[in-house]
Order: sequence, then C-alpha cells, then structure tokens
Amino acid sequence: MKKVFLGFTALALIVTACSKDEISEQEITQQQIIKENGEKTGESRMCHSDYNLKKQLEENPELANKLATIESKTKRFIDSKRPGNGNGNGNGGGDTDEPATDFPVVNIPVYIHVIYNTNQENISDAQINSQIAVLNEDFRMTNSDANQIPSEFTDNAADTQINFTLAGVTRTFSTRTSWGTRDDMKKSSQGGVDPIDPANYLNIWVCNIGGGILGYAQFPGGSAATDGVVVGPQYFGSTGYLTAPFDGGRTTTHEVGHYLNLRHIWGDGRCRQDDFVVDTPSSDRANYGCPAYPTTHCKSTDMTMNYMDYVDDTCMYMFSNGQKLRMRAVLEAGGARESLAN
Ligand code: ARG
Ligand code: ZN
Ligand code: CA
Repeated sequence: MKKVFLGFTALALIVTACSKDEISEQEITQQQIIKENGEKTGESRMCHSDYNLKKQLEENPELANKLATIESKTKRFIDSKRPGNGNGNGNGGGDTDEPATDFPVVNIPVYIHVIYNTNQENISDAQINSQIAVLNEDFRMTNSDANQIPSEFTDNAADTQINFTLAGVTRTFSTRTSWGTRDDMKKSSQGGVDPIDPANYLNIWVCNIGGGILGYAQFPGGSAATDGVVVGPQYFGSTGYLTAPFDGGRTTTHEVGHYLNLRHIWGDGRCRQDDFVVDTPSSDRANYGCPAYPTTHCKSTDMTMNYMDYVDDTCMYMFSNGQKLRMRAVLEAGGARESLAN
C-alpha cells in the first residue's frame, strides 16, 4: 500500500508539471523567442511526453499501479548496485554521486516508420542511418562533444552500454499533413502504421507532428499498441532534411531517454520535485538555448548539458550514471522493457 502511495505521489509530480502555471518567466521569454522565429511555440515544446502519459492515465486508471510497480523495482535495482547498498537514497533529488556501474552491452533493434506527405518528409536512408549513429554515439558516450562536459560533471557522465541497430524501415505516403500527439500515426485504422512487435523492437515513427512539436515518447508500462517514439522528420538524424538548432539528432536521444524511463532533469517542478536520479542536481526549471556554465538554480549547478534538459542539440552531450541505472533497470530481467534487450 505504501509503495502504491509513493507511486501516486511521483505521478502527481509528472502530471501537474504540465499545467501552465508551472511555466517560469524564463521559459515564457524563451517561448516568445521561439515564436518570433516562426518556429515553434514553447508550450508545445513542453510536456508532450508527459501530456501523453497524463492522457493515458486518465483513460486507464490501472496504469498508475503499473508505473508504481516499475518505480519500486527501479529503486530496488539502483539500491542493489550501490556499494554498501541499501542506503535508502534511491529517490534523492540532491547533488550526490552515483557509482559508475559496468553492465553487459545490450542491443536494441529499431524499426523506423517514415510517414510522409511531402517528398522532403520521405527522409533518405542516409538520414535514418545518421540517427542510428547519433543514438549509438550518445548512449555509448562516443559522442565527439563529450569533451565539453565541465570537470564538475565528468565523473557523472555515463556510457549506458546500450546499443541500437536498424532492423527495418517502412515508408508510407499519406494525404495527412500533420499527426498531432494522439498516436494516430501508430494506428493503421487511422491511416498510420501499426508498431512491429513492440515488446522486442523500439518502434520510431518519423512524421510531421505539427504545432512545432519536436517529438514525444511513451514511457515504460504503457499500451503495446502505442509503444515507441515519434519524431518530426526535420529533427531526426544529423544529415538531410533538418531544422537548426535541433539538427543534431538529439531529439531522438531525448525521447529514447523517456522511452527508457528517464524524466526531465529538473523533475518537471520546483526544487524538491525529483527526477529520481541522485546525480542530476536539483533544479526548478528547464534550460533553453545554449546556457552559460555554470547555470545555478536550487543552490547547485544545473546539468544543462544533459540530454534530458531542453537545450539546443549542440549544447547537450551527456547522460549521468544515475540515469544509466534507471534505464538499465527497465532492461534487466523482470524489467518493463526486458524483452527489448538482446
Ligand atoms: N521537447 C521535447 C521533449 O521534451 C524534445 C526536446 C529535445 N531537445 C532537443 N534539443 N532536441 O520531449
Ligand atoms: Zn521530454
Ligand atoms: Ca536529481
């Protein structure tokens, strides 16, 4: 009972983070800048993965229990990996270190579903391959910009030991010009493409979402029929039909982070609201653009260069050891995404 209650508390944090009054002044400024560029509204840049989760929770009350179970398993797994384990620190929001833990390299096979209206949206194989390459660089910490991590955080940076291989590509023309965030692109009944074996494959739909939304993901625990990640074609990969400053393939890195159970590093709320990762320092807001180092909120340096912040693609270049443990927890035996890993 207690576990379930904690789970609900955690969910409340995620869900309430989408309400407008949580948007700080800095974010509003950024929204205006983005709007002025004619590019995208800040509101739509925020919260689509979280919004999607909220909608699923409303439609399926059982999901809350499922997510609570995943959280308690994750906490147990992380505690077991700590030296002198069981220090009860698994939900800390503070600025402490997490050990670098060695795991076998796992491989996740990926299906890409390109759904296009214009020829440009029918992105090339080269663009698709560039995205797989970026995922592998970022998750294996072979990204060339890892050398920009400030010394304060170098010990926290993780090779997640997760690898991705392209299993196949589907290409589908549609008369529809934008798809929204209600998962229509994942349903053949709606003119989309059904996921292929989502228990064993990461499915990524590449289609125009609309409303300036870069991408969104389904967290572990959701319905198999809609499981996977959606990314707009001009934010997918690092070569081809792309729009700066989201032209480095990091939107997919960020969304796959959500898909493997990562929250935004500021915990989608105030200082005490948590991303359930101890080595991502507490913050009370998203950062945008390319923030100066150090950027300080909640009395600690924000890890703005983390893939789970909202900065530009060239300004994000690390996962932390604690985030690695959360992702590895869902891929472990008994984890919600166990069958993906091989
Ligand atoms: N706003 C999106 C999300 O929260 C993706 C952000 C990706 N950021 C980037 N620099 N590509 O799910
Ligand atoms: Zn996100
Ligand atoms: Ca944290």
